Amino acid sequence: MQQRFKSQVVVVAGGTGGLGKAVSLAFLAEGATVVVTYRSQTEFDALQLAAAESSSRLEGHIVDVLDEAALQTFITDVVARHGQLDAVVNAVGGYAAGSPPWEMPADALDKMLALNLRSGYLLLRNVVPTLLAQRHGAIVNIAAVTAVQHVASAAEYVASKAAAVAMVDSAAANLKGTGVRANSVLPSIINTASNRAAMPDADHAAWPTPEDIARVILFLCSDDARLVNGAAIAV
Ligand SMILES: NC(=O)c1ccc[n+]([C@@H]2O[C@H](COP(=O)([O-])OP(=O)(O)OC[C@H]3O[C@@H](n4cnc5c(N)ncnc54)[C@H](OP(=O)(O)O)[C@@H]3O)[C@@H](O)[C@H]2O)c1
Repeated sequence: MQQRFKSQVVVVAGGTGGLGKAVSLAFLAEGATVVVTYRSQTEFDALQLAAAESSSRLEGHIVDVLDEAALQTFITDVVARHGQLDAVVNAVGGYAAGSPPWEMPADALDKMLALNLRSGYLLLRNVVPTLLAQRHGAIVNIAAVTAVQHVASAAEYVASKAAAVAMVDSAAANLKGTGVRANSVLPSIINTASNRAAMPDADHAAWPTPEDIARVILFLCSDDARLVNGAAIAV
């Protein structure tokens, strides 16, 4: 196992979720100290258990990443205690779809924009100043392939993911030449427990695993991707 992130500090927002958990474990396996935000104690306990002997390098904090004051306090605290922040992954997101806009609940758009766009926006606002001061750091925002493949009956979700990719691309243009990079990863349907439960008759083996996606995310955070900024990688 490579140790590309030995002595590095990584924040994974939503780091106990279906994808986030695999990302957190992959960083731990490669030597990083991993700080996750979580909301469910059961999810964090499961991550700690899975981390096994690496759990001494795992921290978890209950943070609502949509609460900017709470997020700012969290990031300030991480940097104060560790003295550095090397990579930030936003695996917070949500899905509401299944009908055309005129048949969706009235609040569906606001919910999708909050979870899939505002989460990444607030992370950018609150981590980039620290990364710029270090002249070093990588940000990966998880979007979805529907950001570019605009399927029917998912207008709110598709719009929120497309906007997230555009936002990260614009921020990456600001970051060019600074040593700080921002990229998006666009998964298609992932082989998570909740997707398997939601679609019991689908061919689950055809779906990429969270671990497959995590490998791409770690590449983007690694020095091997030091020339990659503003990319939107479909996986
Ligand atoms: N799964 C897929 O097939 C798929 C496909 C394409 C793209 N994606 C994207 O990949 C990312 C990860 O998806 P996933 O399947 O891992 O989803 P998930 O299992 O629901 O994980 C998301 C995590 O974010 C947390 N979260 C939600 N709102 C939050 C908030 N305000 N503050 C802090 N944490 C919050 C969730 O906590 P709670 O459990 O408490 O809500 C959960 O732990 C998302 O952006 C998703 O849109 C997923």
